[in-house]
Amino acid sequence: MAGTERVDGTAGEGRSTLFHRIGLLYTGDPDREEITDAALVVEDGRVAWIGASGEAPAADERVDAGGRCVVPGFVDSHAHLVFAGDRTAEFAARMSGERYTAGGIRTTVAATRAATDATLAGRAAALVAEMLAQGTTTVEIKSGYGLTVDDERRSLEIARRFTAETTFLGAHVVPPDAPSADDYVRVVTGEMLAACAPYARWVDVFCERGAFDAEQSREILLAGMKSGLLPRVHANQLGEGPGARLAAEVGAASADHCTHLTAGDVDALAAAGVVATLLPGAEFSTRSPYPDARRLLAAGVTVALATDCNPGSSFTSSMPFCVALAVREMRMTPLEAVRAATYGGARALRRDDVGVLRTGAAGDLVIMDAPSYVHLAYRPGVPLVAQVWKEGRRLV
Ligand code: NIG
Ligand code: FE
Repeated sequence: MAGTERVDGTAGEGRSTLFHRIGLLYTGDPDREEITDAALVVEDGRVAWIGASGEAPAADERVDAGGRCVVPGFVDSHAHLVFAGDRTAEFAARMSGERYTAGGIRTTVAATRAATDATLAGRAAALVAEMLAQGTTTVEIKSGYGLTVDDERRSLEIARRFTAETTFLGAHVVPPDAPSADDYVRVVTGEMLAACAPYARWVDVFCERGAFDAEQSREILLAGMKSGLLPRVHANQLGEGPGARLAAEVGAASADHCTHLTAGDVDALAAAGVVATLLPGAEFSTRSPYPDARRLLAAGVTVALATDCNPGSSFTSSMPFCVALAVREMRMTPLEAVRAATYGGARALRRDDVGVLRTGAAGDLVIMDAPSYVHLAYRPGVPLVAQVWKEGRRLV
C-alpha cells in the first residue's frame, strides 16, 4: 500500500514507537488473543514487545491509545480492484428483482479493455486508499477483467504496484470473443499464464456454472501451479458444484464464497486444511442467502472474511462492514468475525507476518474509536477507524 511520512516526520528506521494505554488489544494470536490494559512496541516496522501497559519499555515515540481498542490491520484476502466502468444499472435492476449471474463480468471486461493504464491504476489506487482508511493494511488483488494476454498482464502489473498478493484470474469467464471455451482454456494455460506468472503469486479460477467446470478449472489450477503459482478458487458461490472439493484436491490455500456447500464439501475443506473465505458483501449486494459460517466453524475449518470488492457482486471496500454482516447475518460472534478479518485472512494468504500482533510480526495496526472490537458490529456503518499504522508508520 502507498506510504506516507511518519507523523513525527522521521524516516522510521531504527526508531521505536510505544503504543500504550490500549484498553483492549485483540492480537489475532491464537495463543494470547486478547489483552486488556495493554501496550506494544513497534521497532523497525516489526512488533518488538507486547504486554501490560504498566510494564512497557521506553521507546523513541509514544502513542497514547486513550483506553481505546487496537486490532491488527485487516487482511482483505479477496478483491478485484483493477477495472474500469461501473455496474450501477445492474445493481439497481437487481434491487428491483433481477437475478445476479456470472455474465455481468463481461460488461466490466469491455470497459477495462478500453481504459488506459493510468485510468486503471488511478481507480485501483483510490480503492486501496478507501480500504486503508477503513483499516485494511494487506490486500489481495486479482486480475480477471482483461481476459486477453495483454490485458491480464497489464492488470497484474498494475496490481503489483499496490500489493505482493496478486492473483492471476484469467479464468474469470470465457470472453465473448473467444472461439470456444476449450480454446480459451488453452490460451489461459499457455500464453496468458506465461505472460502473467511473473507478476502473480496466486492462480484462481471461477469454478461455477456459467464460468468454468471442474475439468477446465483443474487444468487451469494445475498449469498455474506448474508455473510456480499457488492455488485459490472461487467456489460454490451461485450454487452447489465441484469448486470446494477441487480446492481441497489441489491443496488450495482458500476456497472463496462457499455459499452453497454440501456436508461432503465442508468435510473436504476441513480435511485438507483449506481456509473458507466468506464474502458476505456479495450476498448483501446480490440479495442472496448467506453462507453457513457456523457449520464451517463447527467442522474446524478456518474462516476468513474478505470484501470481494468488485463492481458487480460486491462494490464495498469495507472490512468493518463485512465484520458487521458476518455477525448479524452469519451468526459469527464478534470475536470470530474480527479473527476472520485478521488472522483468517492471513491464513488464506499463507502469511504469518500480518493479521496478528505478536513479536516479530509486522507493526500493522488499527486504533479504533471504540473500547472494543465488538463495536465493529454493534455500530455498523460508523467510521470507527481512528488511526492506521503499517510497519510502524502512521498512514491514516
Ligand atoms: O467474486 N465470482 C466471480 N467474480 C466476482 C464477481 C465479479 C463480477 O460480477 O464482476 C465475485 O463475486
Ligand atoms: Fe471474487
